[in-house]
Amino acid sequence: MFSGKAKAYTNIALIKYWGKKNQELILPMNNSLSLTLDAFYTETTVTFSTEFTEDQFYLDNQLQDSKATIKISRFLDLARKKTGCTLFAVVKSQNFVPTAAGLASSASGLAALAGAVSAALNLDLSPIALSRLARRGSGSASRSVYGGFAEWEKGTSDETSYATKIISNDFEQDLSMIFIVINDAKKDVSSRDGMQRTVETSSFYDGWLQSVPKDLAKAKAAIAAKDFTALGEVTEASALKMHGTTLAATPPFTYWSAESMKAMNLVRQLRTTGVSCYFTMDAGPNVKVLVERKNEEKVLDELAKHFDPTQLIVAHAGPSIEILSTEEA
Ligand code: ADP
Ligand code: DP6
Repeated sequence: MFSGKAKAYTNIALIKYWGKKNQELILPMNNSLSLTLDAFYTETTVTFSTEFTEDQFYLDNQLQDSKATIKISRFLDLARKKTGCTLFAVVKSQNFVPTAAGLASSASGLAALAGAVSAALNLDLSPIALSRLARRGSGSASRSVYGGFAEWEKGTSDETSYATKIISNDFEQDLSMIFIVINDAKKDVSSRDGMQRTVETSSFYDGWLQSVPKDLAKAKAAIAAKDFTALGEVTEASALKMHGTTLAATPPFTYWSAESMKAMNLVRQLRTTGVSCYFTMDAGPNVKVLVERKNEEKVLDELAKHFDPTQLIVAHAGPSIEILSTEEA
């Protein structure tokens, strides 16, 4: 019997990944750039044993159904293939983040799974190789291998599509991200289905793709110059453009709720009073506010006038993936 345990933190994209050119390999249509955060994470243990007669997947202590387990088995197969291992595995994962609510559980979840399986099978992967493996589980997971800022290079093949760390002279330490949790229930349209529908049907999708390289360059320049305003502006613009594409899909859809709009308007209003802060949103109604750490309290106080304190979660830059244990018995 041998097992591995890993912990990975979620990341939130400042320049969004939205759309795949290869669904099986999870090759994205565009590069993306993210900040790994300390407030939400996943811990996963993978155990292989001759005694197991099937793969099993427990999420938050609940045995998952065959649909969820097949997804995990397919992922484990990628690692099993690398070593010739034919054993079944039991995967036990704990999400310290609401699952499938637009709070990036797929990023921390699949990165932790990649870390745990590579530890269990002693794959001895470089960060880039681990990022590639995590990508096969969920695109955004490729970025959760690193702490701080990361860029996922879209690449053109399995080999060339992976994330790397962006060197930032600790700029990420100056930042806070405040999560406004509007609804942490499982969403109706998953990221995977939402982006695919958009690629296939949205007349705005080409506009999205054309805009990404410029936005990415702006974000990288802003990080290099430690220019918060420039980073905030391009972060907000990227999110708005991504969400714009869903409105032109067939059938059209949106992840925004009335409360999301309220939160976004509040952020805009705060800016007019001289408080520099910017929002971003993912595939769910929750809003994340990017603010300089020195202004975190000011923004929190304002948000607390409109949202319950239990809805507000403060995050700072998080660390890279951690291998917690490797055991053989
Ligand atoms: P989110 O916004 O939470 O990332 P997604 O729809 O993108 O939502 O992804 C949610 C999916 O990610 C889940 O349905 C599940 O397939 C996968 N997932 C989430 N957490 C884990 C985990 N800890 N281990 C394995 N897979 C996970
Ligand atoms: C809106 O990485 O969850 O959060 O690759 O299909 O698993 P799959 O999708 P996923 O999508 C994330 C989409 C996003 C933007 C982002 O994180 O870049």
